[in-house]
Amino acid sequence: MTSLIVLAALAASLGKVHAQAQLTVNVGSTQQQIDGFGVSQAFGRAAEFRDMLSGAPQRQGLDYLFNTTTGAGLTIIRNRIGSGPVASDCILPRNPGGPSATPDYVFDEDDRGQVWFTQRAMEYGVKTIYADAWSAPGFMKTNGVEVNGGYLCGTPGHGCSSGDWRQAYANLLVQYVKFYAGRGMPITQVGFLNEPDYVTSYSSMQSGANEAASFIPILYDTLERQGLGNVSIACCDAIGWNSQRAMTQGLISQGVERYLGYITSHMYTGDPNSPINTRLKTWQTEGADLNSRWCATWYSNGGLCEGMTWANKIHTGLANANLSAYIYWQGVEVNQFQASSYLVASDGRVVTPSGRLWAFAMWSRFVRPGAYRVATSGSVSSTGVTAFRNTDGSVIVVFLNNGGWQQSVRVSFNGFAPAVAEAYVTDNSRSMASTSAALSGGAVTVSVPARGMLTVKLTASV
Ligand SMILES: *[C@@H]1O[C@H](CO)[C@@H](O)[C@H](O)[C@H]1NC(C)=O
Ligand SMILES: *[C@@H]1O[C@H](CO)[C@@H](O)[C@H](O)[C@H]1NC(C)=O
Ligand SMILES: *[C@@H]1O[C@H](CO)[C@@H](O)[C@H](O)[C@H]1NC(C)=O
Repeated sequence: MTSLIVLAALAASLGKVHAQAQLTVNVGSTQQQIDGFGVSQAFGRAAEFRDMLSGAPQRQGLDYLFNTTTGAGLTIIRNRIGSGPVASDCILPRNPGGPSATPDYVFDEDDRGQVWFTQRAMEYGVKTIYADAWSAPGFMKTNGVEVNGGYLCGTPGHGCSSGDWRQAYANLLVQYVKFYAGRGMPITQVGFLNEPDYVTSYSSMQSGANEAASFIPILYDTLERQGLGNVSIACCDAIGWNSQRAMTQGLISQGVERYLGYITSHMYTGDPNSPINTRLKTWQTEGADLNSRWCATWYSNGGLCEGMTWANKIHTGLANANLSAYIYWQGVEVNQFQASSYLVASDGRVVTPSGRLWAFAMWSRFVRPGAYRVATSGSVSSTGVTAFRNTDGSVIVVFLNNGGWQQSVRVSFNGFAPAVAEAYVTDNSRSMASTSAALSGGAVTVSVPARGMLTVKLTASV
């Protein structure tokens, strides 16, 4: 009797394993374009990466971030345009005496290690360099310091006895872009705010839509006048998605959407879960687990430090919120108190990737800049699906299985004839491990592991 029950249960479980889902990828039905995935090494983390790691461990850290064979193949970096009152942090550390006095810009050729980090990223083929200011220098702000909020002098409702500093702030940002351009590092996006809806004791400047809208055309014209009209303006890196949604509607009603290239948001007070109503591309530009100790776990109980948790956030952003990019907070950190706000940890010798890094890699290694997300039809139990067409014609399908059962899926294609398939899995026992993908009659069959991911890459000809 007992063995019969066991047999019946076994048969039922085998049945679940073998029930095959059918999915169709409509390769011609394109949705948002993908710019990529990335990290920052702001606030000196780039210099620590360079100085506290050397030789093989340093190379391994870079490979984990950027290598498309052994790492995540990230394609975006987000640098900080510093605003502190010292030349190591800001290209204009001292007040020139007023908004129209000649500024004495200095570039220390290091930028807290970000010059080194940018050059290394570019060696791996990274072309998307987002430079973002957290604040204007203190002397340009209502509170006189670069920390603790305060507004840019001259924005609506924020007059200062020293005058209107909006043009001077635009000049500083454009000069920063020129310093990088002059050294062969073309910044592609420039931002002038970071969490303008949050006041804190490090670099911090407040802004609502009205303040931003009064500055954006000035920055736009300044870029144009300096021959840098090829650099896009990104706004506003609000602390959470709904805050950025509201700010975006404010910018649109003020008529400044046309000066912008990107809408950018963080995820700390709300994840990207539905589209922001804009014709611009939207990016999630900073997300992290700020609460947990370091964890490299793929899946345990759904905690914020786990890889599966971030795989779900990235999936939701791409599938439901029309995101074109997803950027974690920091990449590699050395001896930084063992938090989970970075993807790769090192004690100076051993370099350890996290499950979160592999969550990014399951998209980033295969879905390359310029790809378009494409529509799918059909569904797979407990499993999220996103599909993409790369500029080289290859098609990528990414599965994220939150269920406790392996899922077998047969994927067919409209508008595409696959000739070669390769697949990789990540779960609690494997990171980016090669697995089988059986091609037959123009369809591919794969097995998506329980509480894991599978990415299949299909190419049309050998
Ligand atoms: C990526 O890693 C592979 C394997 O170790 C190596 O051969 C290749 O040179 C690396 N790519 C770059 C751009 O460093
Ligand atoms: C933009 O144009 C400037 C000036 O020609 C050039 O130095 C820079 O590399 C260009 N930047 C991009 C992102 O193409
Ligand atoms: C998605 O974003 C693109 C810009 O990348 C935009 O043109 C399109 O309208 C957006 N779609 C939705 C559903 O919001």
